[in-house]
Amino acid sequence: MLQETLIKATRAGAAVLQQFFNNKDLAISNKEGVNNLVTEADHASEKVIFEVIREAFPDHYILSEESGEIIQDSTYKWIIDPIDGTVNFANGIPICCVSIGIEKDGKMIHGAVYNPFIGEFFLAEKGKGATLNGDPIWVSEKSDVASSCLVTGFPYTYLDMPNGPLECFERFIRKGIPVRRLGSAAIDLCWVAAGRFDGFYEHKLQAWDSAAGFLMVEEAGGKVTDFKGNYYSPYQPHLLATNGKIHDEMLQWLSGELPVK
Ligand code: IPD
Ligand code: CA
Ligand code: CA
Repeated sequence: MLQETLIKATRAGAAVLQQFFNNKDLAISNKEGVNNLVTEADHASEKVIFEVIREAFPDHYILSEESGEIIQDSTYKWIIDPIDGTVNFANGIPICCVSIGIEKDGKMIHGAVYNPFIGEFFLAEKGKGATLNGDPIWVSEKSDVASSCLVTGFPYTYLDMPNGPLECFERFIRKGIPVRRLGSAAIDLCWVAAGRFDGFYEHKLQAWDSAAGFLMVEEAGGKVTDFKGNYYSPYQPHLLATNGKIHDEMLQWLSGELPVK
């Protein structure tokens, strides 16, 4: 029932994305920062997702990007990004998705990420693996960073800090290591889970960006931590997700321990 509702809610949100995609009259406004957008589709997607969840589980706790927290005395918490990749969405770039994770007693137990524009539905359940459109997926086999294909994301407001986003990016680029930037953290994580990328890192994520995707990577056999190698919590900003094999080396690259030249 829980996973059934998760799938139904994710599909309902994604149908809204399809309805509003490339609509010239799409209402767009800005949150904090210069280009941190929210569109009427984000709100409309959130609304239908809430309706599906409330119909089945009226007493569950909800944390959602545009509405914040709907606090309930429940062991279940739904963590929702009604559109991950809003800048892509607003520009007609079909790399965006609905992302929903479910926690029970503070542990992520289900995740769903659906990009309806390329028809990819990723699903994970704690201890039961991860799938893409129903088929099991696994992380890649690469064992060194030098031959890896990486992906990252940048925050809306530039973070000027040691080992910040541009510094880390520069380290990889100077060594000729490909680093992609898709614009949707949830999709980045799912693509690590599917073995398309060997690693993903980002400096400032919110719980709704990573809730479903980090479980996807773990269930596909990968590893997810913060930048110090601690077990990942979606309630802190730093995320490193890899196939497991390049994880320790990636931690060194991010901390600047490896020679840069
Ligand atoms: C953003 C995307 C992007 C990441 C940003 C997120 P949004 O989420 O996941 O890839 O780099 O940090 O905020 O705003 O499109 O939901
Ligand atoms: Ca997001
Ligand atoms: Ca969003």
